[in-house]
Amino acid sequence: MCGIVGYTGHRQAAPLLVEGLKHLEYRGYDSAGVALIADGRIDIFKTAGKIAALEKELAGAHPTGRTGIAHTRWATHGVPNTINAHPHTDCGGTLALVHNGIIENAGVLRAALSRRGHTFRSETDTEVLAHLIEELHSKGDGRPLVESVAGALVQIEGTYGIAVVSTREPDTIVAARRGSPLLVAIGNEENFVASDASAVLAHTRSVVYIDDGEIAVVRPRDYRILDVGAVEKHKAVTHLEWDLGTIERGGYAHFMLKEIMEQPNSLRDTLRGRLLEEEGTARFGGLNLTDEDLLKIRRIVITGCGTSWHAGLIGEYMMEELARIPTEVEYASEFRYRNPIVDDHTLVIGISQSGETADTLAALREAKRRGARTLGLINVVGSSIAREVEGGIYLHAGPEIGVASTKAFTSQIVALAMLTLKLGRLRSLSILQGREVVRALARLPELVERVLQNAAAVEHIAERLLRAGNVLYLGRGYNFPVALEGALKLKEISYIHAEGYPAAEMKHGPIALIDDLMPVVFVAPRDAVYQKIVSNIEEVKARGGRVIAVVTEGDTGLAKLADQRIEVPETLDLLTPVLTVLPLQLLAYYIAVRRGCNVDQPRNLAKSVTVE
Ligand code: F6R
Repeated sequence: MCGIVGYTGHRQAAPLLVEGLKHLEYRGYDSAGVALIADGRIDIFKTAGKIAALEKELAGAHPTGRTGIAHTRWATHGVPNTINAHPHTDCGGTLALVHNGIIENAGVLRAALSRRGHTFRSETDTEVLAHLIEELHSKGDGRPLVESVAGALVQIEGTYGIAVVSTREPDTIVAARRGSPLLVAIGNEENFVASDASAVLAHTRSVVYIDDGEIAVVRPRDYRILDVGAVEKHKAVTHLEWDLGTIERGGYAHFMLKEIMEQPNSLRDTLRGRLLEEEGTARFGGLNLTDEDLLKIRRIVITGCGTSWHAGLIGEYMMEELARIPTEVEYASEFRYRNPIVDDHTLVIGISQSGETADTLAALREAKRRGARTLGLINVVGSSIAREVEGGIYLHAGPEIGVASTKAFTSQIVALAMLTLKLGRLRSLSILQGREVVRALARLPELVERVLQNAAAVEHIAERLLRAGNVLYLGRGYNFPVALEGALKLKEISYIHAEGYPAAEMKHGPIALIDDLMPVVFVAPRDAVYQKIVSNIEEVKARGGRVIAVVTEGDTGLAKLADQRIEVPETLDLLTPVLTVLPLQLLAYYIAVRRGCNVDQPRNLAKSVTVE
């Protein structure tokens, strides 16, 4: 998500830090900042927007300092503005800190620190950590920076990759990691820390990767890595051979593949801190609607475009089944112009990865104007839609750079499942059912990992579809929207015509298309409509169709019917789409690559559609 770079050595730090940040910009950015240690003080420079704005500010200020840290932010807490940009400082300005990740117990810690007299300047979770370190490091004799950082980190829950500097130890950077990548890069009488090797590749190719729980103490001529118990560790130095482009894509050939493979972690981030197993429900920090408000809701309208609209269809099934609230899903572009009937008992939920889609924004404005309550399920913090709605749920899926949406879709489904839990438990959903869903959600990332380990099998199937002119995708129930999504993925990146359809509707028209040249992809996990879809597969086979089926592990029944099978693990019906969509994302990806298409930037498409 965000990017970190730090430098300590014999050269001026500012230009090196800015250059490093520019290489991290591809990860998404909304603001950036630098802290430099110079003449016993810390100078901080921060700007909202692109790194170029920060560069301009620094050029005007001519800052000095041979030790510094820098950050490019992709907001998870607090709107993207200069105040919320990193680095953050303690009350006295003796230390500065940059942070990637999410501090889950920031609210509680912030309240306690405020009671103890600390003054907060930003809305971020990160600032909490600066004040916690201050308590141990900056007062009186204070503890050394590394001990203070370690003492602060034991108090926080969540994930972090951090770099900290202090005027008391002017040529030292302390860096630590739990869940957010971090490395030390070794130069000649100078050393770096970075969240990603691309930031330092121009200066050195020797890096030491920091593992979870470790702390690094980095100075110009040496570095030490300490384990959880503060014992020094000897760690291997890795010599990087990749080029810059490969590093930015995390070693993957394309951003789309990287984002598909990231899904176990993006889902962990979507779920983090939100599941309440004992109560069988979910909690959210930013709904801005009380339980009383939520109980007044009699109808839900979900709106969005493209992939986000598909997620909305899954949400409709969940809301009606578990929360028992009548729900409709509307294309935002249709909803906004059709004089929709909504009132203050209607909850309109806008779903958008970018938070900038013009039609979705306009649909929510229209709903608000007519008195409806509005929520957003948004990935980009502080985006236009996030600011328009009353409240919402951030997906925390991390920047999605490939034009075809993948990890945002699975995070949207999971966010919808958690919202369903919340609304359902306020109504008739029993605590036992609630707990069952919570447990299944908590297990999902691990199951996603299992499906993705099978990518080679999907690649093999893709080989046989390279020359198809048309592909039909069929599913039922929760997996009908997955059929739509599978077809959308294929057409947008491989330019093969594909249709998604509810499997039983096939016999009302599309069945006429079926012959041995038309592959049919069935999304057929063992769920409540399994037997029904088996009959639909028989219908296709009887007409000479070629069937590729996404099935539940161990489903030997379908082995005889399907020409090719892709297995996914078992989960609750409502969560099957998170697993069944993965092979379809991979299938589209491998077909497109083999056809020589520009996977990350397909023709005619833009990542965020800000026009109607
Ligand atoms: C498909 C895709 C698009 C988007 C749609 C909405 O892979 O990416 O269909 O889903 O343009 O975008 P957001 O979610 O940003 O509102």
